[in-house]
Amino acid sequence: MPGQTGGVVRSLADRGPAPVPAPAAAAQPAPFQAPVAVPAPAMEPQPVAVSAATPEPVAAPVPAQAPAPAPVPVAVVPVEPVAVVEPPAEQAAPPPAAAVPVAEPAPVAEAPVAEAPPIAVQPQPVAVAEYLDVTGPGGELPGPQLGHIPPQPQPWTPAPAPVPEAEPAVARPATQAVPPAEPTPEDHAAPAAAEAAVPPEPEPVAVPQPAQEPAPAEAAAPAPEPQPQPAQEPEPAPGAEAQEPAPEAPPAAPFDDDAREAVHRVMRERRDIRNGFRPDPVPHEVLLRVLEAAHTAPSVGHSQPWDFVVIRSEDTRRRMHELAGRQREAYAQSLPKARAKQFKELKVEAILDTPVNIVVTADPTRGGRHTLGRHTQPQMAPYSSALAVENLWLAARAEGLGVGWVSFFDERELCRELELPEHLDIVAYLCVGYVDEFPAEPELVESGWSQRRPLSWVVHEESYGRRALPGEDPHDLLLETLDAIRPLDAKALGEAWERQKRMTKPAGSLGMLEIISAQLCGLSRKCPPPVPEPAAVAIFAGDHGVHGQGVTPWPQEVTGQMVANFLAGGAVCNAFAAQVGAEVCVVDVGVAADLPAAPGLLPRKVRAGTADFTAGPAMTREEALKAIEAGIETARDLVAAGNKALLTGEMGIANTTASAALISVFTDTDPLDVTGRGTGINDETHARKVEVVRHALELHRPDPADPVGVLAAVGGLEHAALVGFILGGASLRTPVILDGVSAGAAALVARAIAPEALAACVAGHRSAEPGHTAALTKLGLRPLIDLDLRLGEGTGALLALPLVQSAARAMHEVATFDAAGVTEK
Ligand SMILES: Cc1cc2nc3c(=O)[nH]c(=O)nc-3n(C[C@H](O)[C@H](O)[C@H](O)COP(=O)(O)O)c2cc1C
Repeated sequence: MPGQTGGVVRSLADRGPAPVPAPAAAAQPAPFQAPVAVPAPAMEPQPVAVSAATPEPVAAPVPAQAPAPAPVPVAVVPVEPVAVVEPPAEQAAPPPAAAVPVAEPAPVAEAPVAEAPPIAVQPQPVAVAEYLDVTGPGGELPGPQLGHIPPQPQPWTPAPAPVPEAEPAVARPATQAVPPAEPTPEDHAAPAAAEAAVPPEPEPVAVPQPAQEPAPAEAAAPAPEPQPQPAQEPEPAPGAEAQEPAPEAPPAAPFDDDAREAVHRVMRERRDIRNGFRPDPVPHEVLLRVLEAAHTAPSVGHSQPWDFVVIRSEDTRRRMHELAGRQREAYAQSLPKARAKQFKELKVEAILDTPVNIVVTADPTRGGRHTLGRHTQPQMAPYSSALAVENLWLAARAEGLGVGWVSFFDERELCRELELPEHLDIVAYLCVGYVDEFPAEPELVESGWSQRRPLSWVVHEESYGRRALPGEDPHDLLLETLDAIRPLDAKALGEAWERQKRMTKPAGSLGMLEIISAQLCGLSRKCPPPVPEPAAVAIFAGDHGVHGQGVTPWPQEVTGQMVANFLAGGAVCNAFAAQVGAEVCVVDVGVAADLPAAPGLLPRKVRAGTADFTAGPAMTREEALKAIEAGIETARDLVAAGNKALLTGEMGIANTTASAALISVFTDTDPLDVTGRGTGINDETHARKVEVVRHALELHRPDPADPVGVLAAVGGLEHAALVGFILGGASLRTPVILDGVSAGAAALVARAIAPEALAACVAGHRSAEPGHTAALTKLGLRPLIDLDLRLGEGTGALLALPLVQSAARAMHEVATFDAAGVTEK
């Protein structure tokens, strides 16, 4: 509701071509004054599809093929000897490549990595076809087997320290944010992150094996060094030298191998259980052992704040079941449609299926006023009770008892129903009973609701962001992400083309959707591919210093106000997201205003808006990298939370100016041809905007071979975050549906950093901004829809989502000729 959005009076959907107020050009003393009164732009959005334009990347020619359908010069086509994409009969010229990077890249540059210039990535002038590894005659697929990824050339080379031979023109100062050397995936002790969508955890038993394990008999009096010792003794403190060294006592004894394995086994094989409970009663002595284990938990100030209320009565359990049912319904109502559909299939409690329910409480007053440790952190009381729950859970597993934690309760309601003292906090409601089996994986993982996050994502060395597993050097998030980006899998692609040939429809009759479905197969390495549902649109928001140059009539504060509108559900993106069942996630990477915390808002502000790039760089290189990382982490979060498609969205008053600058750099096009009217500016403002872009490019002379440098010079924080989002999605083999001109600009940067990132990209739509056409042409991406939208916010990507989902669904549900008994021609 607009009234609830903190002052947004009009949606940006109103940003039509209607007359607009004059720009506040004279608002600030500007370091640069663009001339006004320049003729109207020569380039208007073309009504023709992008197919009319010649894509910069040259698609591989389609080998002469079997008779009928005319082959389309789409990069993925050469994989398949029979052209499967039949252009519509009325199509005069075949569309250009969908420019889907495919399979393995041709080995690039013989030059050894060490001699690479100290630049980010040399953009590959040839798009899709370059990534093909379809060397077999007749189009057979000699590509890698599923799961086996041969080493890839490193597309992005960190700056090696001094490079005397490097071309000065492209050299950029090495940044601290990019370490000079990064081990290849093969060098990693835990290569998981590079291989899986969300890579599996390292081996479950994570305890390092000491070089020599004491024999069980020695366990009581262990040898002096049973455990790995620090490589070096710490330096003695000054003044301590004179003291007699204390006699070295042996460290405490570890468990023997079997006992230690038993501890790890019980943790590994503990599961939250909701299905498959048996009615068998739980003997008293068994329940007692389990409660004793809970009661040995650590607690703040040893306050032992827990109580356990054991419920067996069927009548009480029925009442509890009813309470939980109501909250379950309320939660279901709050979900996006696609999530609600998934949720309907999940069982979230087993209150009536289990003979014993246990309520675990925390008494925040236990131990009196001076409980040690609770003075500063009162939440330590319920945390302590949560530890008792974990002990209970593990002990129950060892007894063969399943436990299911139910958090679908209004705590006060529960307290009243159970007549608990009002001062108690409810920590857990547990359903306990014998079970048929303990599944190997969490039920939420098995059902596709969520994925495990790898350990390597969450361990930081010394300071947050220096991610490293013990024994590893800290790794750079961007480089780690790039390491995991792979081309489309040739085998799955081949299977896709094969399957499409056998589906009950004329070959190629689904046109572009066949290319998308093959891309999804190659990306996921599965045929048929997972249907990309649920999906989430991430709207990255940021402000722009160049706003001060009068490039838009909209005041800057509208960025923050629109963020409030997104969060309140009142924007166009919310309506479209509701229509297609997607989640809206808003990320503040650089809004000038302070934004209050709100559900759905990720506070990741790198800085409060960029600087005016007509006077200096928009941001520092470090800030650009930080915003890229925010995008990568957003992609990781959304994918780990179970999203199977990522949609780009953005919000930032004046961001089409930055988009135009980026596109001009990466397409080598004159600013006049790629600078559009954004929200609908008049001729005078447009002329100014063109000159602003032109001036900035002359000032910074950004080098497209240094993509991060270009972002820092003339980009926006939301552009940088979008770059990370695209790279992150690609590294997780998750499709990224691109929205409009800002996403196009970001995709150009992402491509320059890692060309194979395009393997994950689908162009959702073509914006009315001329720069977007130029970007798509350069990217070699054909947009799915072309409706003259120019709103941003992810709206075009959201509209395209059902098309992408349909492409995947057809692969699952359409019968084959043989299965349906349909005669082929
Ligand atoms: C604090 C907490 C609350 C939970 N609440 C519920 C719940 O209400 N319903 C449910 O089905 N699972 C609930 N779970 C179980 C989690 O979904 C489960 O722990 C997670 O998916 C990982 O699976 P695993 O426990 O089998 O490893 C809860 C778990 C915790 C720790």
